[in-house]
Amino acid sequence: MDVYEAVTSRRAVRGFTGRPVSRKVLQRVLSAAAWAPSGSNLQPWHVYVVTGEPLAEIKRRAGARLAAGEPWDEREYEMYPAALKSPYQERRAAFGRERYSALGVAREDWEARQRAASGNWQCFGAPAALFCYVDRGLGRPQWSDLGMYLQTVMLLLRAEGLHSCPQMAWSVYRKTVAEIVRPPEELILFCGMSIGFEDGAEQYIRTGRAPLDETVTFVESR
Ligand SMILES: Cc1cc2nc3c(=O)[nH]c(=O)nc-3n(C[C@H](O)[C@H](O)[C@H](O)COP(=O)(O)O)c2cc1C
Repeated sequence: MDVYEAVTSRRAVRGFTGRPVSRKVLQRVLSAAAWAPSGSNLQPWHVYVVTGEPLAEIKRRAGARLAAGEPWDEREYEMYPAALKSPYQERRAAFGRERYSALGVAREDWEARQRAASGNWQCFGAPAALFCYVDRGLGRPQWSDLGMYLQTVMLLLRAEGLHSCPQMAWSVYRKTVAEIVRPPEELILFCGMSIGFEDGAEQYIRTGRAPLDETVTFVESR
């Protein structure tokens, strides 16, 4: 698979089969992903790879919290600014429309939307997950390094025939994750990432992208 194919075939998959992912493959992917760039080569990513019984336990505990209507954990970072300005608000709304219309869920059906969202905390059925942390003493450039690393992981997973879904949703159940992975206090959970083989029955609409001239400006000689 060439890089273009890896990039264009990656999408946030929200339906996985239970087929296990081998530790050898995950080790190969994560060893290669370590070549991702970072400012001054800080390599500020801290990743926990969770499979088997520990992942089942995280899913069980998250499911129990959800069923009990327990509040989310207080946020350690804001996922989005409170007032999202244009054009981001429109793009977010378009994403929501596409996601829920693929599932046949009406915009005003809050309960059905919550049910769909709750798949996050079952890793959408995936048998493997990463929990990706960054040191709380580091700043925005290092969070950006973490993003580059995560995309590198997701592209390498494609080369292995695997799919993924990065999930900030786990940050609101960060204490449940911490009960199992026991990260040091100085780390913040940025996101989880579900990993596995795609379940062909998943209903989705492929997300679109803004036209190139909305996000890219060429400054060149005439
Ligand atoms: C940092 C990050 C966090 C995300 N968090 C979630 C999440 O919690 N749940 C989810 O279903 N998708 C999540 N996504 C997936 C995005 O919704 C998805 O990448 C975006 O809509 C573009 O679609 P595509 O990845 O299928 O191309 C996240 C993506 C990123 C990069």
